[in-house]
Amino acid sequence: MAAVDAVIHERLASRIALVNQIGQYIVGAGGKRIRPKLVLLVSRALGFEGPERHVLAAVVEFIHTATLLHDDVVDESSLRRGRETANAVFGNAASVLVGDFLYSRSFQMMVGVGRMRVLQVLADATNVIAEGEVLQLMNMHDPDLAVDDYYRVIRYKTAQLFEASARLGAILADADERTEQLCADYGATLGTAFQIVDDLLDYSGSTAELGKNVGDDLREGKPTLPILIAMQRGTPEQRRMLREVIQHGQVERLQQVIEVVRATGALDATRDAAIEQATRARQAAEQLPLSPWREALLELPAQSVDRLS
Ligand code: IPE
Ligand code: IPE
Ligand code: MG
Ligand code: MG
Repeated sequence: MAAVDAVIHERLASRIALVNQIGQYIVGAGGKRIRPKLVLLVSRALGFEGPERHVLAAVVEFIHTATLLHDDVVDESSLRRGRETANAVFGNAASVLVGDFLYSRSFQMMVGVGRMRVLQVLADATNVIAEGEVLQLMNMHDPDLAVDDYYRVIRYKTAQLFEASARLGAILADADERTEQLCADYGATLGTAFQIVDDLLDYSGSTAELGKNVGDDLREGKPTLPILIAMQRGTPEQRRMLREVIQHGQVERLQQVIEVVRATGALDATRDAAIEQATRARQAAEQLPLSPWREALLELPAQSVDRLS
């Protein structure tokens, strides 16, 4: 991870001062670096030790960082990684444009690796992420969203990059088709669990621990799994309240909503849905060859379910 950090800082550099400033601002705030970890753990678990793993790990973190810059503009968020968001400090225009810089820098870097399969996986992944964000936009303020459509959004916007990260580790190691698919399945299910927990934390977490504002999803009228389950299980009156809150994005009623998602057991049910995905991820990793890196891959799903940030 130290080597990845070195690549990140080296490749963040631009001739344009504002690019450097915003790039340093968001990268300097940290982040869990879970996607680069996937590239490193999977590639090592399958016996690859070349320096390309550090480059691709930095690439997936750059893509992730670009999506965060864009996402905070789209979501009108004011807090990220315990700091004011880049859009709050530098404005929407600068955030969007530096996000574009990071996206295109990541493509310069992956071309440097010189493998068509790598380009193919990342070109597809970034395209699907964009589709996921647009699909989610279309679902805003819709209290009748089907649970399956919720899953489609999170598979596209989040799980796809986890899947690509794990798959890239396998591609670097020249793994056979079956092993590559196992790794892809691991990443996809881990990423799905990760986003379900993120959506859970928006109702059960604390702003201080998350470094993001709780209630952001509600403010935007985002029908996430805790709300969808609470609507299924609630009394007609509770259901009416939740519908209204989603339709109008009434974040001032957050406490009332939290009480209902708690009382209906929707928080526990959401956590169970994350555990189901995490279990599938673990089962995929169990089929990889024994190694300390596989052990770390086995632990990540449960850690992602129990995280507080
Ligand atoms: C945030 O991702 C966006 C989601 C997919 C929920 P992370 O929780 O991985 O963000 P950082 O990089 O650790 O800040
Ligand atoms: C994560 O979406 C952004 C992408 C995966 C592109 P969210 O909007 O749900 O994540 P946070 O809560 O802002 O980190
Ligand atoms: Mg957001
Ligand atoms: Mg968003």
